[in-house]
Amino acid sequence: MTTKMNKKLYIETLGCQMNKSDSELIAGLLQDEGYQLTEDPRQANLLIINTCSIRATAEDKAYSYLGVWGKMKRANPDIKIVMCGCVAQQAKDDVFKRAPYVDLVFGTHNIHQLPELIKSLDNEDRLCAVTTTPVEPSSDYTVKRQDGISAWLPIIEGCDYFCTYCIVPYTRGRQRSRKPEDILREAEDIAKHGFKEIILLGQTVDSYGNDCDDPDINLANLLKEIHKIDDILRIRFVTSYPADITDNLIETVKNLSKVCEYFHIPVQAGNNAVLKRMKRRYTREEYIELVNKIRKSMPNVSITSDFITGFPGETEEQFEDTLGIIDEIVFDHCNTAAYSPRKRTPAATWDDQISQEVKKQRLNRLNDKVKESVIKSNQRFLNTTTEVLVENKKEENNKIILSGRTRENKIVHFESEQDLMGRLVNVQINEASIWCLKGDLT
Ligand code: SAH
Ligand code: SF4
Ligand code: F3S
Repeated sequence: MTTKMNKKLYIETLGCQMNKSDSELIAGLLQDEGYQLTEDPRQANLLIINTCSIRATAEDKAYSYLGVWGKMKRANPDIKIVMCGCVAQQAKDDVFKRAPYVDLVFGTHNIHQLPELIKSLDNEDRLCAVTTTPVEPSSDYTVKRQDGISAWLPIIEGCDYFCTYCIVPYTRGRQRSRKPEDILREAEDIAKHGFKEIILLGQTVDSYGNDCDDPDINLANLLKEIHKIDDILRIRFVTSYPADITDNLIETVKNLSKVCEYFHIPVQAGNNAVLKRMKRRYTREEYIELVNKIRKSMPNVSITSDFITGFPGETEEQFEDTLGIIDEIVFDHCNTAAYSPRKRTPAATWDDQISQEVKKQRLNRLNDKVKESVIKSNQRFLNTTTEVLVENKKEENNKIILSGRTRENKIVHFESEQDLMGRLVNVQINEASIWCLKGDLT
């Protein structure tokens, strides 16, 4: 029997901020059951892996962690091993075939069932709880947020877009906007706990409210409400779907002083035929027009993006259009990846798959292009004074080195005599590399 004294929990989180936010919910639910989080898996008697299936490499990583934990369990059979997240949602009890030492599998819709599932493990050898509709919380619950300056707050779950390469609509289900009152209550609670920045989360965060009858439920109005919370200094939102950014949203970001000038708007490719086959609902021209509109409204805004190389059928010329859009836009940061066929998605079944070699070679070329773009974008901060929210500190040679982010989400390092954690300060930038900016407090 596990006593309260030795209920130690370790969570490994793979994947996007949604998963990281879910892990904070999982930690909170289990803390209410007497579990204590540990950073060392060897100390834990409950090991949870929150998985991602966006690409094959992410899925493989999950099973390789489980392999290591399986060996630990052979030495100590009392350990319980749990798999959740996007791989679990799809694989269900097939997980037991590949990793027979797993005790519990639960899906992305079943997080609120976790406390009772863990209790049931006392009487059952193995359990699998994966439903296609979300199990709602049965009572009040706590989220155990990682300590820090910035807190994630999910506002919309799932996705309705079904891009032909993407697994997310299958692992996270249909789009569901949370009620504004629930979000605001959580935002107040975040402020009460001392966080200074709120990052609103959603796979298509700017579609917030599109599934509600009330047209007043939208991201712009939500930002206005969160803006009123006194102790919150900054607000961000990710990820935006290009076609859902409205003029009203742009205007709102411009007008609200706490909302940072930062848009993460994945374009995926710069060629219209590829975009069409991906079932993205915009053209290259519309994307460029959108970015120009945002920049016209907020000249120093950061625009970041995601790209996929070697989507089925992508020709060399089409790929060059993707390189071209990077030159044309000059992005502030980009996530890039080679296309990975995902089971159940349409593009995985198409005949015109691109070889691994070409996908990789294009990825390298794309990454070189992205580097040029990011250096250019960082250099625009040289010799300017910029507002930084201090998020981290370390001591080096008896000096305090602080770091934080600009409103445009650029990382800045600088020295300080004082601990300024959680404060907004002004820094004069005198160095710009690809990774970060450096400067002096003013
Ligand atoms: N909702 C966001 C992206 C979510 S997934 C959007 O619509 O833009 C995060 C990123 O993973 C995507 O932007 C895409 O670039 C990448 N991705 C998704 N599926 C992929 C796949 N099958 N292979 C490679 N990259 C993929
Ligand atoms: Fe995936 Fe497309 Fe939805 Fe983004 S919009 S989560 S890429 S299906
Ligand atoms: Fe991965 Fe699931 Fe996020 S597939 S990217 S963890 S929504």
